[in-house]
Amino acid sequence: MVVFIAGATGATGQVLVPLAAAAGMELRLHVRPATAAKSPLGADPRARVLDLGDADALREALRGCDAVISLIGTMRSRFATGDTYASSDVGTTRFLVDAARAAGVPRFLLLSSVGAGGSGPYLQMKGECEAIVRSSAPAWTIFRPSALASPRAGTVGTHGKRWVPPGATALTAALRGVPGIGGLVARYGPIPIEVLARAMVRVLEAPRDGEVIEGTALWELGA
Ligand SMILES: NC(=O)c1ccc[n+]([C@@H]2O[C@H](COP(=O)([O-])OP(=O)(O)OC[C@H]3O[C@@H](n4cnc5c(N)ncnc54)[C@H](OP(=O)(O)O)[C@@H]3O)[C@@H](O)[C@H]2O)c1
Repeated sequence: MVVFIAGATGATGQVLVPLAAAAGMELRLHVRPATAAKSPLGADPRARVLDLGDADALREALRGCDAVISLIGTMRSRFATGDTYASSDVGTTRFLVDAARAAGVPRFLLLSSVGAGGSGPYLQMKGECEAIVRSSAPAWTIFRPSALASPRAGTVGTHGKRWVPPGATALTAALRGVPGIGGLVARYGPIPIEVLARAMVRVLEAPRDGEVIEGTALWELGA
C-alpha cells in the first residue's frame, strides 16, 4: 500500500511515519521546501519536497497512491510566520483533496479535532476542512482527537512535542471505562499520539469509509 502523508514533519507525523512504515506501507512524505533544511525528513528518500499549491507537482506525487493522510494544521501563535487557518488548514485540505481526485487516489484520511464545526475560529475552520473532505474527497475517514500527547521518548517534530499536564493522559485512560462519565472523558481528555497513529494505520489496513472517529471509538481502535 502506498500512502502520501501531508504534515509528516509535525508532532503527529513523527509518530505516524515509523508506525506506518513498520506496518509495511510504502510512504511518500510531504515536506515543504522551506522546511526541508530544518527537518531530518528533508533528506529522507521518501520525501516529496514541494509546495502543495503546485497542483501539477502534487498530482504527480500522488499518482499511484492508495491513500492520502492530512495531518496539517497551524495555530494562532504561528500566524506571524505567514501560516494561517485559511492557508495552512483550509487551503491545503482543498489542494490535497483536488489533487487526490485528479490523481485517482481512492481514499482520504483527515486529522481534524473534537468539536469541529463548533464555535470559535479554530473549530469553525476544522468544520470547513471536514466539509471539503466530505463533499469532494473520494472515500474518506475523519479523526477527531482531543488534546494530543507526544511520547516521552522519540523524535521531535518541526514544532516540538505536544505536552499535556503530567498524569492527564493516564487519568483519561483510567476513567474512560467508568459508566456515566467514560464517554465524555474519552472524547475530551488528552490522548497519546501513538493511540491516534495506530488507529490511522488500522483504518488504512481495514477502511472505515464515511466514518468520523472520536472518543471511545478512537481509543479502542488505537489500543
Ligand atoms: N496538537 C493537538 O493537541 C491537537 C489536537 C486536536 C487536533 N489537532 C490537529 O492535528 C493536526 C496535527 O497537529 P500536530 O500537533 O501534529 O501539528 P504540528 O506539530 O504543528 O505540525 C503541523 C504540520 O503541518 C504542516 N503545515 C502547516 N502549514 C502548512 C502548509 N501551509 N503547507 C504544508 N504543510 C503545512 C507543518 O509543516 P512544517 O513542518 O513545514 O511547518 C507540520 O508538518 C493539526 O491539524 C491540529 O489542528 C491537534
